[in-house]
Amino acid sequence: MVMDCAPSKQLADRRIVLGVCGAIAAYKAVELCRQLVGMGAYVTPVLTHDTHHFVGETTFSALASERVHTSLWNDDNVIAHTALGQSADVIVVAPATANVIAKYAAGIADDLLTTTLLASRAPVIICPAMHTEMWEHAAVRDNIATLKRRGVIVIDPEDGPLAGGDSGPGRLADVRAIVCVVEGVVGPRDMEGHVVLVTAGGTREPIDPVRFISNRSSGKQGHALADEAASRGAKTILITTSSLFSGPEIERVQVSTASEMQRAVIDKAGDCSIIVMAAAVADFRPSSAGADKLKRRAGISTISVEPTPDILAELVSRRIPGQIVVGFAAETSDLLARAHEKLTEKGVDFIVANSVADDIGGFDDENNAVILLDSNAGSVDIPMQDKRGVARDILDVILAKSVTALPRWRFRPFRPPPRAWCP
Ligand code: PMT
Repeated sequence: MVMDCAPSKQLADRRIVLGVCGAIAAYKAVELCRQLVGMGAYVTPVLTHDTHHFVGETTFSALASERVHTSLWNDDNVIAHTALGQSADVIVVAPATANVIAKYAAGIADDLLTTTLLASRAPVIICPAMHTEMWEHAAVRDNIATLKRRGVIVIDPEDGPLAGGDSGPGRLADVRAIVCVVEGVVGPRDMEGHVVLVTAGGTREPIDPVRFISNRSSGKQGHALADEAASRGAKTILITTSSLFSGPEIERVQVSTASEMQRAVIDKAGDCSIIVMAAAVADFRPSSAGADKLKRRAGISTISVEPTPDILAELVSRRIPGQIVVGFAAETSDLLARAHEKLTEKGVDFIVANSVADDIGGFDDENNAVILLDSNAGSVDIPMQDKRGVARDILDVILAKSVTALPRWRFRPFRPPPRAWCP
């Protein structure tokens, strides 16, 4: 889930060349441009000759932070390709047509985009978009394999509706997925080697096949924590009840009840260096869930409940030496006192004290403010901001305060795709 244009530490001040090829998916490049600029990047669109059949230069000029380039020849800078190629932190080609993919694989440079690609040593991200028959054609498969061998990052197209009413593989990847990959490529990878487990969302405890007990958690804060950890190079596992988007580099496990979350967490926890329990897990559930929808005329007046498994307590009881366990405390009153109580009672390393007393911050809001308490009596105020910024600050503090505690021997280093550069 990429916060819509929330400032990104990874993208701030980064120089991105956005190559846009002549395909129907070019209209999505407009949104990609808007998001990257909104997250703090400097974006230079480079449109190929046929792009204007789909999207005009003016549209990009209105949204990009830098001027739009459409030709090798109508630039006051006669060597626009080397200026762009050498100054880029990353080049993203979205959509990438079979034609440009073939030219790039063959080293053909006959327009501004292909000359810039060859004139750059920056990482390159290719986002193909074309009809299924083309995507599956042997020539395209060979060209993609060639580019991957050279370290080019290819975000495979999705399977879905295509132009002309067809459907199948070949649809440009989700713009949010592309943004997540760009962040991971250009951002500081200070969490590389870590395996981070994050839980998110409110659990649903069934009353009958139709009804359940739940809460107002949307999962936004947990998904933001997972996005942040992944964009900084951590191997990230997200166990969520939410339907929010999560990036392609995140291992996602979908759950609904507290029991399902417990099973998934315990199954994954053994490999993790940092565990962040941001999910709003129900404390109690109906003692028995009806097999049939309860009828009003049955005159139900009470529902007996029982406690759910305390996942956080179980995590601490099974903790691996050096593993960092972070709990949350969602409180409507006595925030600090109750958070401190949980910190000591649960035996966790950090507690994120989160007031949910009003509608500002907390449940389902785009923004949040928390206080991060640690087991050495430390306390850090994290001010009101978008939840991605809160996630960034939480992870910054955890990394800074735990640098000595985390044994690295356990981690199978998560190898990011090789940084692309042209031989
Ligand atoms: O999801 P959003 O809409 O973005 O809202 C974010 C949030 C407010 C939900 C989030 O910031 C937050 O506060 N999450 C924790 C909510 C919660 O359940 O807090 P709690 O004080 O009830 O639980 C304390 C801790 O124990 C939590 O880490 C919880 O995950 C954990 N827990 C709770 C019950 C249970 N049976 N097992 C647990 O492990």
